[in-house]
Amino acid sequence: MSKQIAVQCSDLSKVYTGGVEALKKVSLNLEKGKIHIIIGPNGAGKTTFLQIATTELSPTSGRMTLFGHDVMKDKEVITRLIGVMPQQALMYKQLTAWEHIYFFTLLKGFSRTEATKETERFLKLLNLYDRRNDELYQFSGGMINAVNLAQAIAGDPEVLFLDEPTIGLDPKRRRIVWDYILKMHGEKTVILTTQYLDEACELADNVVVFNKGKVIHEGNIESIINKLGYELKLEIPRSEENLAIVNRIEKHFFAEQNDKIVLWVKDGKMAIQRLVEANIDLSSIAIQRATLEEAYLNMIED
Ligand SMILES: Nc1ncnc2c1ncn2[C@@H]1O[C@H](COP(=O)(O)OP(=O)(O)OP(=O)(O)O)[C@@H](O)[C@H]1O
Ligand SMILES: [Mg+2]
Repeated sequence: MSKQIAVQCSDLSKVYTGGVEALKKVSLNLEKGKIHIIIGPNGAGKTTFLQIATTELSPTSGRMTLFGHDVMKDKEVITRLIGVMPQQALMYKQLTAWEHIYFFTLLKGFSRTEATKETERFLKLLNLYDRRNDELYQFSGGMINAVNLAQAIAGDPEVLFLDEPTIGLDPKRRRIVWDYILKMHGEKTVILTTQYLDEACELADNVVVFNKGKVIHEGNIESIINKLGYELKLEIPRSEENLAIVNRIEKHFFAEQNDKIVLWVKDGKMAIQRLVEANIDLSSIAIQRATLEEAYLNMIED
């Protein structure tokens, strides 16, 4: 079966009043049923991208569609397809947690009975049921975020746009949210921004890296790590003898530092085999795998 594209954009640009170019000709095809994680430094354009996709902002040029519906022309259809957790949500703090989720679910077009069911389901899921009758001003920051997230997910929309959804959540709630998102895998499409790379590792089918308004990489976690060009970093005690051994190993890069030789190798297995053959004491070697964090930092620096 051919892949179905949920979100598509081509040459999408956004210039804000005042001249900031937040998006510069972004083109993407985000597949249905996958979890797409958008990462990128502050100001990279992630929220702007989500705001255009969710019809809150108009692009300056280019086109964007959700299941073929144009974000500029088919706002009503799109609103029915999506759930949105904005980065800076408008929360009515005089409402109780129950009322907040309930009213937002009604606004999505659900009946009172369905909205009640959804509200109770998410209050329980996010461990807020005991606090359901408290007004939001009595809530902690993390709890307010959890309510914001619940109102986005309630009703299980076809496409979820979550802008830094787990910010401020304690580890237990974060795990609950991750598990919930993972359960939707294959059925719903999730587009989620985060600053947490462990979140990307845990959830992503596809990672989109934004930097300065452009998409600088798209692919799975492995493809990002591969961009570094090496698999392992090895630290070996510095000596003439070890230097001679290191010289015989195929490497990406190497450096001599105070008391050690550091080498970055493409083929970790092969490099370790060479070291074993040379009778190097393996317990004297520090081995580190290339990480997403390293690859990401490397990618966005300039
Ligand atoms: N309403 C606005 N008016 C003018 N400039 C804006 C506006 N909103 C965002 N910008 C600018 O557009 C750029 C992209 O901002 P955006 O909020 O999309 O970034 P982001 O990747 O979501 O960042 P963060 O990680 O901090 O949430 C930034 O330079 C920002 O200052
Ligand atoms: Mg943002």
